[in-house]
Amino acid sequence: MALPEEFLDRLRASNDIESVISPYVNLRRRGRTMVGLCPFHGEKTPSFVVYNDTQSFYCFGCGIGGDMITFVKNIENISYMEAVKLLASKAGLPLPEDGYDDRAAAERKELLSANREAALFFHKSLNSPIGAAALKYIRGRGLKDETIVKYGLGFAPDSWDSLYKHLKSLGFSDYILYKAALISKNSRGGYFDFFRNRLIFPIIDLRGNVVAFGGRDLGDRGPKYLNSNETPVYKKSQTLFALNVAKNTKKDYLILTEGYMDTIAVHQAGFEEAIATCGTSLTEEQANVMAKYAKEVILSYDSDEAGQKATARATPILKKAGLEVRVLRITGAKDPDEYIKKFGAIRFKNLIEESLTAADHQFSGMKQKYNINTEEGRINYLNESVKFISRIPSKLEREVYIAKIANETGVAKATITETVERMIKREDRKEEKARWNSEKSSYRFRQDKVSPEKAGNLKEVVCEEKIITALFQNQGHIGKAKKNLSAEDFVSDFHKRVYNKMLSLFENGTEISLTQFSEEFSGAEIARLSQYLADNDDMRYTPEDADRYIEALKSGKQKNAEDIKKMSSEEYMEYMKKLIKSKTDRG
Ligand code: UTP
Ligand code: MN
Repeated sequence: MALPEEFLDRLRASNDIESVISPYVNLRRRGRTMVGLCPFHGEKTPSFVVYNDTQSFYCFGCGIGGDMITFVKNIENISYMEAVKLLASKAGLPLPEDGYDDRAAAERKELLSANREAALFFHKSLNSPIGAAALKYIRGRGLKDETIVKYGLGFAPDSWDSLYKHLKSLGFSDYILYKAALISKNSRGGYFDFFRNRLIFPIIDLRGNVVAFGGRDLGDRGPKYLNSNETPVYKKSQTLFALNVAKNTKKDYLILTEGYMDTIAVHQAGFEEAIATCGTSLTEEQANVMAKYAKEVILSYDSDEAGQKATARATPILKKAGLEVRVLRITGAKDPDEYIKKFGAIRFKNLIEESLTAADHQFSGMKQKYNINTEEGRINYLNESVKFISRIPSKLEREVYIAKIANETGVAKATITETVERMIKREDRKEEKARWNSEKSSYRFRQDKVSPEKAGNLKEVVCEEKIITALFQNQGHIGKAKKNLSAEDFVSDFHKRVYNKMLSLFENGTEISLTQFSEEFSGAEIARLSQYLADNDDMRYTPEDADRYIEALKSGKQKNAEDIKKMSSEEYMEYMKKLIKSKTDRG
């Protein structure tokens, strides 16, 4: 049974780690902490520390640690649920018991109903006098009134609380509205509307529920697009905008665009098979969802460099999900929306028909770059395409492209094949060597069972430990940090999971404590988290520290990757210290 976060929060608030532990351990105060002899291993000098701030314990002798639930579980040798029950009865808290699943379902229903009312409110506002300018704007962008109705577009008034007041008058609680991510909390604990002065695109799931919103700025305040934060009914990594409509076309392909406006413009032009991700780059989960509805995806990202990069990034993700990939080649406009406006639906249909496979798209890009009528151009073209071909996993596909460039350049097929094979071998050897080097340089850390990735990525994983700790200590900073840091940036899978959990707790407005982790994470993992907190108890990180480590993690991965790889662990620690320090000095 998954325990609700809110219940764990209350459990933690109604108990206190000191009073939970003191019946078992004779604790003595030392500064902000309490110390005693570890009850889990024999010792003569106390190395068992209890931290009031984080409501956690850690033994520097044997490495055991965790929250109050972990403590009771280990000391009484009982299960997690039994420990929870014991603590709940000690605090006089009723258990959620089996009713909980029903309650979660009831809450989801309420969130969806709040979203639906919000969508109605936005839609009505667009068609009322306060929405006049917004309506004019969206008509000016070429959307027909029937399209506006069909997609339920709306307007979030330029006001701090018009939606909040409206939904309150319908009887929704602050708790639900906040959990639905429709309102935000200010520093004084008051609430205000999340979307203000924005054109609203409701995001609708496959069952027709409004799960979230995208909002385009109509003034010049804040980011151009804002998207709802994640909620129990909205997981960004799984959601695709307009798939609820696209799935009905029964075509065997989907058109993947960059955003809301492109998708709707393409639909209006008669191609309802268009979809978009909502303010995030494509994930594997989304690709898997697409594979349920189509055999092929036509990538229709912007024609600019960013769009082309996104195309190159998305292609392998889609292929991995078993989808065929084609690329729309937009010229003379920056995106599908603009293209249709300039050249019309028929020309757009031609574009779809003329779209190339992802590989052909690559080759044609290379051909444009080099003039294969000159010797030099041919050589450059060959070099680059041989590199590209050597990265294709399927031998059959490689053969096809080898034949193609042999034909184009007049170089013998056998020669190209040989070069490709040699390149593949060389890449394999390089990988082998890199693996061996990282094994060698970090064999000391191979025993790390919680973050096994530490073996090959000591530098990154150490950085990640600091980030997790700093964010634990500065929870208010998570909202800002997550703009620069996604779970995918973490090398350690353990850290990835910790960060994801922190994000979802943060988004639900729950205070982050070890207690929230102790069900999903193993004993060793909880001990590790409490170790991070314990190791850094005297060292309070600031939000700026968190940012620096985030930057160090990311820059370590990119720019300096080569230099850093050559450093020993000691050199790296020194380097990190300097990096952090030089930033502090400057700032
Ligand atoms: P674009 O900036 O390409 O905008 O963002 P657009 O779709 O062409 O919009 P218009 O035509 O100017 O109105 C594409 C998508 O990227 C996400 C949104 O999902 C958007 O639809 N995005 C963009 C954000 O999430 N935040 C932003 O600040 C900008
Ligand atoms: Mn656009």
